[in-house]
Amino acid sequence: MAEFTLPKNSQIQKGRHFPAPAGAKRVRVFKIYRWNPDDGMNPRVDTYEVDLATCGPMVLDALIKIKNEIDPTLTFRRSCREGICGSCAMNIDGTNTLACTKAIDSCEKAEVPIYPLPHMPVVKDLVPDLTHFYAQYASIRPWLRTQSAPPPDRERLQSPEDRKKLDGLYECILCACCSTSCPSYWWNGDRYLGPAILLQAYRWIVDSRDEDTGARLDDLEDPFKLYRCHTIMNCARTCPKGLNPAQAIAEIKKLMLARRA
Ligand code: SF4
Ligand code: SF4
Ligand code: FES
Repeated sequence: MAEFTLPKNSQIQKGRHFPAPAGAKRVRVFKIYRWNPDDGMNPRVDTYEVDLATCGPMVLDALIKIKNEIDPTLTFRRSCREGICGSCAMNIDGTNTLACTKAIDSCEKAEVPIYPLPHMPVVKDLVPDLTHFYAQYASIRPWLRTQSAPPPDRERLQSPEDRKKLDGLYECILCACCSTSCPSYWWNGDRYLGPAILLQAYRWIVDSRDEDTGARLDDLEDPFKLYRCHTIMNCARTCPKGLNPAQAIAEIKKLMLARRA
């Protein structure tokens, strides 16, 4: 699942080693991808020995400890530290996931590798460039699209049954773990929308309040945008929120077939 492949700017050079402080009680080693666009150097992997006796339990805690106490040049994104914002998505221990919800103790490798999300351009260190990903998200126009006049005295309502259809979809935090684990997205990401954006597209297609379903399906009727999914299932295996983008993609394909029949 989401095995790491080197980012595009890659000729790894020898990294630096930061040993644990004297008297450290419970040492865990992290091997972290480093690349700075401003120093003219090739990427490298730095080794940090962290004393878990004075560190929180999550990988994000270790990264913050490294930045605060060992090496302030380490760059990564984070915000909520509780699996809601999606900012801290990265490849940890061979899997795309969120650093803030990934427990250090659950990492299997003795020396935990931490890399940016695979197959994306890197801005710096663990920060991928998500410009194209967000442009693809904008392309599906992810908001309620209606033609009818809104009710004069209340919001547009939805039955509990219709609301339930959004379960498994609305929870997506757009972290991009799934899309960057998808081989089809690696090779055709310029035109294939990928699992995250297609799950979001389905979230609006299936919303009973939306009145633009036909146009939404028309937009996806394209050999690349939708049909590059080959049901490899990396996306569902890696999603840190337990969602199943492949299932959402299959549902869109069923709707396409139904309207052709
Ligand atoms: S489906 Fe899961 S992995 Fe993909 S963007 Fe949404 S939350 Fe992240
Ligand atoms: S099921 Fe489809 S979207 Fe998910 S990883 Fe496989 S090819 Fe990509
Ligand atoms: S910091 Fe927000 S999801 Fe990890």
